[in-house]
Amino acid sequence: MTAAIIDGKAFAEELRARVADAVPGFAAAAGRAPGLAVVLVGEDPASSVYVRSKGKATTAAGMLSLEHRLPASATENELLEVVRLLNADPQVDGILVQLPLPAHIDEAAVIAAIDPAKDVDGFHVVNAGKLAVGDRSGMVPCTPLGCLMLLKEQRGDLSGLDAVVIGRSNIVGKPMAQLLLAESCTVTIAHSRTRALSDVVRRADIVVAAVGRPEMVKGSWLREGAVVIDVGINRVAGAEPGKTRLVGDVDFADAMGHVGAITPVPGGVGPMTIAVLLRNTLVAAHLRQG
Ligand code: GUN
Repeated sequence: MTAAIIDGKAFAEELRARVADAVPGFAAAAGRAPGLAVVLVGEDPASSVYVRSKGKATTAAGMLSLEHRLPASATENELLEVVRLLNADPQVDGILVQLPLPAHIDEAAVIAAIDPAKDVDGFHVVNAGKLAVGDRSGMVPCTPLGCLMLLKEQRGDLSGLDAVVIGRSNIVGKPMAQLLLAESCTVTIAHSRTRALSDVVRRADIVVAAVGRPEMVKGSWLREGAVVIDVGINRVAGAEPGKTRLVGDVDFADAMGHVGAITPVPGGVGPMTIAVLLRNTLVAAHLRQG
């Protein structure tokens, strides 16, 4: 069987174009563009790259992009003060505090301080709770929502399918499981303590891998025809000395001989996250504007 490669990059470009098309309508009615504020604490190189690309994408969609950079030495109170100012700023519809934060700052306290209506990451307990009880008025985390969009594009109706989510983080695994449950999948959440993981994965029509272990999921673990969404982005040593390459949590080449469809790394889930962030910002702007 030849697997279909799910083109997340193309889907993300379409979504970004749809959001950009809808921005002028909002701006005409509201008298302002939707605004997204991104807060970065410290100079972690990977986080700096993400923050810069989020800013560029926001501007390219016709939205207002605000960036707040604090030094790694910033205190929790200083960060909370920035969040309070952004909560009160009428130009700001979405607030994203880039994670991870330096170890001396309590991430949960910072997330709790964000106005849930501006929490475009969907990490606030109010938004996590709304997702859990099926209240669609909340903000949904960007990466799992992007995964769901790709799955529905590929498989259509997901009702009754067996889904295995590998990983139980608050950012991906848990919200992903909630979204699949809401689509009437039979959902299993597997994690580092799961016994006989390969047997659990082999039952699945849908596999979402979000564990952060390079190429951990092997082709022989996958049911023939399964749809695989690979959230992992792992940098490993390349073929040439000194070179690196990006791989997912799934052994892509091995999986290709088994699955029905799979997202590549890079070019699968990654581009969807920013596209959904823009979508969430526009949704938040509409909800706030009434
Ligand atoms: N760090 C890695 N992924 C994310 C994300 O989706 N949101 C935020 N705020 N930080 C991240």
